[in-house]
Amino acid sequence: MSITEQACPVSHWPDTDEIIAKSKKLIAEEPYGVNKPKMAEYDKYFEEKCAKSKASTAEAMEYIPGGVQHNLAFNHPFPLDIVKAEGAYLWDLDGNQYIDFLQAGGPTVLGSNYAPVREKVIEVLHNAGPVTGLFHEYELKLAKFIHDHIPSIDKFRMLGSGTEACMAAIRAARNYTSKRHIIKVGAGYHGWSDQLVWGTRIPGTASLEAHGIPDKCLEDTHEFYPNNIDGEGGLRELLEKNKANGGTAAVIVEPFGPESGSRPYYQDFNQKVRELCDEYDTLLIFDEVVTAFRLGLSGAQGYFGVTPDLTVFGKCVAGGYPAAGGVGGRCEVMDTFAGGIGAGSNRTLVGGTLSANPISCAAGYYSLVEMERTDAPLKAGRAGDRITEGLNKVINELELPFFAYNYGSIVHLMTHGVILVDVDNPDFMRQVFLRKKIAEEMGAAYTAEGVITLAGSRIYTSMADTDDIIDDAVKRIGRVLEKCETYVLDL
Ligand SMILES: Cc1ncc(COP(=O)(O)O)c(C=O)c1O
Repeated sequence: MSITEQACPVSHWPDTDEIIAKSKKLIAEEPYGVNKPKMAEYDKYFEEKCAKSKASTAEAMEYIPGGVQHNLAFNHPFPLDIVKAEGAYLWDLDGNQYIDFLQAGGPTVLGSNYAPVREKVIEVLHNAGPVTGLFHEYELKLAKFIHDHIPSIDKFRMLGSGTEACMAAIRAARNYTSKRHIIKVGAGYHGWSDQLVWGTRIPGTASLEAHGIPDKCLEDTHEFYPNNIDGEGGLRELLEKNKANGGTAAVIVEPFGPESGSRPYYQDFNQKVRELCDEYDTLLIFDEVVTAFRLGLSGAQGYFGVTPDLTVFGKCVAGGYPAAGGVGGRCEVMDTFAGGIGAGSNRTLVGGTLSANPISCAAGYYSLVEMERTDAPLKAGRAGDRITEGLNKVINELELPFFAYNYGSIVHLMTHGVILVDVDNPDFMRQVFLRKKIAEEMGAAYTAEGVITLAGSRIYTSMADTDDIIDDAVKRIGRVLEKCETYVLDL
């Protein structure tokens, strides 16, 4: 029986087996990328139309490592200097307009720079300033809204980012359970804190991305492959192994799959993880940094009907405004976060000078209120359905090995497949290098066609994406896809 409903931001569950089969096929073959003459044209676009961006970001290279402060900002051939954001669009310093499918990495389900929220934030800023370090009414309003919409959230502690919130959640789990180990799904991203940079982006990569992190920090973090519940190296095996060695404090998952579902789960995965957590007396943490409230006001847990012990929030929780993070969950665990001078002795210590400032809390609160009033997650989800359908039509017409699928407003457009490469592939490092290069070029090509994506492979839609905008975007992306062919790397 399907657990989806028609009026749900996630209108349907994509066929997991089909996606897995297509992913395998995509990376089994030599990759496709934009052909050289077309790519030269796109590079020319940047030279001719983005001269001011080129100059300002060239100067930035002298003062900022890599020239940009965001991992998600494209560098090929140089970063763009964005000066204006509104609804579905971005504008650069040279006055070029782009359809914005990065949406800041996910938080702006209402569309960028949504005026009704901005006005409220400015009002709060006028009255309370950006920060006081003392209680503010919007702390309560936001916590209450979350509590009222997500049954598993008795209490909510706001923090500065999703990374901090993931750190805090595993710390609270250890404090509460007095157990030692943390298990995550390989490829999952839970921010960049020492203990969670393990098996990021690609399952099985273990400490590959953990430069500068002492081995000791990673000793108690373990990963299992997506969907591997009872198999060799699967969740049950890890829980069993840990049982005799300090126990597992928590299993942390992105409920729609690692990297927002770039490696898809079967629909009953979360329920199975919940059952095993109960069996081994382990806390279940849902990292809903992306999914709450993008996929609905009750988050992924509302969609799956699975109740985690703790939930990690980020992004939407501050409506795209700064300092977006927090943990919520069961009273007994959450009470260990109690702050203030008289906090208890068994405290899970967290902090942050700017956390839960009036701007973040008011922005989060009013964004959620507006998302509910306007049904933004549903509208953004329908835009995600429309672009997925449009892209698959183009891909099929062109007979390319690419594919698109979506969970509501989270859309995966798989072309280069850089995060799908199998760690057991003897050609692993070359494949990753090659596909990363293609990803940069694909991202730049879409941008030159007027569409900004996340890493050239993910699309976050918003309520601002009308049917016309989506259809226009499909045409623009289609112009890139039709110039794709087997890629030859010139070194
Ligand atoms: C699932 C998930 N968890 C945690 C984080 C980290 O959040 P932040 O970037 O706010 O530190 C991210 C960021 O993209 C994320 O996608």
